[in-house]
Amino acid sequence: MMLSGKKVVVVGGSSGIGLSTAELATREGAEVIIASRNADRLNAVAGTIGARAIPADVTSDKSVEDLFRACGPVDHVVVTAAQLKTGPFKTVAMEDVRGTLEGKLWGAWRVARSAEIRAGGSLTLVSGFLSIRPRPNSAIVSVANGALESLARALALELAPVRVNAVSPGIIDTPIRAAMPEAARRDMLAKTAASLPVGRVGVGEDVARQILAFMTIGFMTGSIVYLDGGALVT
Ligand SMILES: NC(=O)c1ccc[n+]([C@@H]2O[C@H](COP(=O)([O-])OP(=O)(O)OC[C@H]3O[C@@H](n4cnc5c(N)ncnc54)[C@H](OP(=O)(O)O)[C@@H]3O)[C@@H](O)[C@H]2O)c1
Repeated sequence: MMLSGKKVVVVGGSSGIGLSTAELATREGAEVIIASRNADRLNAVAGTIGARAIPADVTSDKSVEDLFRACGPVDHVVVTAAQLKTGPFKTVAMEDVRGTLEGKLWGAWRVARSAEIRAGGSLTLVSGFLSIRPRPNSAIVSVANGALESLARALALELAPVRVNAVSPGIIDTPIRAAMPEAARRDMLAKTAASLPVGRVGVGEDVARQILAFMTIGFMTGSIVYLDGGALVT
């Protein structure tokens, strides 16, 4: 098993890409800790996959510090936590804009500062396709994702010998779109699938496998991997 004897923390591990990553790391023999805000959901998920649960909110300095104090030294850290609020550039509430950055960008920043990662271990950030393929009404997500990719490159130098990488997913079918009306969600996913060379949207495990590659390939640092079913070339 690729991760036996390794300790892995997935911040955002109770759902979607984070949950798939935690599951895969567990299957590969790692001791896995998952963290997110909703303690009931976190505990339920941790019980199913055999991980340890530590509730944490990445928008709080103290909460992230407490999380990594409880974890101690670890081998690999992954940040998938995000709650995005977008809208038309001219009218979206500044509170929503700031909230999006507070979780997705500054959340990852806090994790990178607090985590004690052993030499040769890794930190993986998750950005997203909007950094390089922007869409109307989501400028703040483009900004957060672009900044995370820059942060991954900068930290690959500053935190060495810890390795730092980012994966930028395309459309992945996860609970992140749970608030969308079901018919509209299905229609969007079907249209996206039909537009892609691979003929489908992504699943959490597609991204999880890339994240495990970052953990296990000791030559990877400062890399941004665009994992989008071929969207970049369509
Ligand atoms: N799915 C896609 O199509 C897609 C595409 C491009 C990029 N991405 C990026 O991939 C990442 C993961 O997305 P996903 O689809 O896996 O989302 P998801 O299924 O909604 O999972 C998000 C996870 O983050 C946790 N979380 C949210 N806010 C948090 C906070 N303040 N502190 C701690 N934990 C928090 C959530 O749990 P709690 O709510 O209980 O805290 C949950 O465990 C995000 O950064 C997203 O922007 C996703």
